Amino acid sequence: MTINPILTIIIYSWINRQGTEEWRCRAVLVATAERDKRMEYLSQIFNLKGKVAALTGAGGLLVGEMSRGLARAGVKIALLDNNLETIGCLREEIVQNGGEALALKVDVTQKTDFTTALHAILTAYGDVDILINGAGANAPTPFFDIPVEEWNAILAVQLTGTMLGCQVFGEYMVAKNKGSIINISSASAGPPLSKAFTYSVAKAGVKNLSQNLAREWATQGVRVNTIRPGFFPSEFMKKKFLTTERINAILTHTPMKRFGEASELAGAVLWLSSDAASFVTGAEITVDGGFTAMTI
Ligand SMILES: NC(=O)c1ccc[n+]([C@@H]2O[C@H](COP(=O)([O-])OP(=O)(O)OC[C@H]3O[C@@H](n4cnc5c(N)ncnc54)[C@H](O)[C@@H]3O)[C@@H](O)[C@H]2O)c1
Repeated sequence: MTINPILTIIIYSWINRQGTEEWRCRAVLVATAERDKRMEYLSQIFNLKGKVAALTGAGGLLVGEMSRGLARAGVKIALLDNNLETIGCLREEIVQNGGEALALKVDVTQKTDFTTALHAILTAYGDVDILINGAGANAPTPFFDIPVEEWNAILAVQLTGTMLGCQVFGEYMVAKNKGSIINISSASAGPPLSKAFTYSVAKAGVKNLSQNLAREWATQGVRVNTIRPGFFPSEFMKKKFLTTERINAILTHTPMKRFGEASELAGAVLWLSSDAASFVTGAEITVDGGFTAMTI
């Protein structure tokens, strides 16, 4: 029997195509299963869905963005600030994007405000798992000119406010034997930064307070860490601190040669909030484009 060579080529290439197609499908299935396994692993260790977070200073640049990041991860958010207007707008934005949020007026220098907020959160959500203390105040006053009222006011918001948040929410978390507290320190927490005397003293205190509480609550299920942001220009900073000379000084000292974007803090927040950081307490996580790592 004679074999038609053209027909043979057609049959061969058809068989080949079928084979290739089958292998291609198998490869896609294997890759999809691998990807699903990876996603399942990631969502297991970083899973925050259904958790509840309270954040002070949520009306500001950095904590506002941290709130958005946590909300995107499925966390119910309690926005705490003494400026009800800004947190009201953010609450609406989070809800419109499918999240859950409360806006509660809290002056962080008042313990009773924290106690009232905790009750409101427990009534609305039944629990609280994460606390971020990020309310802020600062002033560029030269040392000899600092009025004692200004000194006290900055320490009250930055340091006393952080202490009171830890006291009220920490007590609840210790009682239930689980929680993650993130306090916000700064590149100025040490070594010192010019033009921010009181602020720097307060931030050094925030770091020390956090380490003390981390030690105190380490066996009681409550982790306490700080995030140490570098330079993320807020409206206040632009108005009061950032001259051309200072911008140059900061950027020359920042290996990445740029300021941070507030959204670049979300990764550290999600990690410290989640069980992926279950053995991390008393740590200071630096997010500063290399600022702290550099001398000259
Ligand atoms: N922006 C930066 O580059 C930077 C760098 C390092 C650390 N930090 C720290 O990060 C935190 C957030 O900084 P930011 O730049 O987003 O600040 P921001 O000025 O944008 O916001 C601060 C928020 O704190 C609120 N606040 C002030 N006093 C309060 C009080 N008594 N009670 C309740 N709320 C009060 C304000 O209403 C405001 O919404 C602060 O602790 C700040 O010190 C900021």
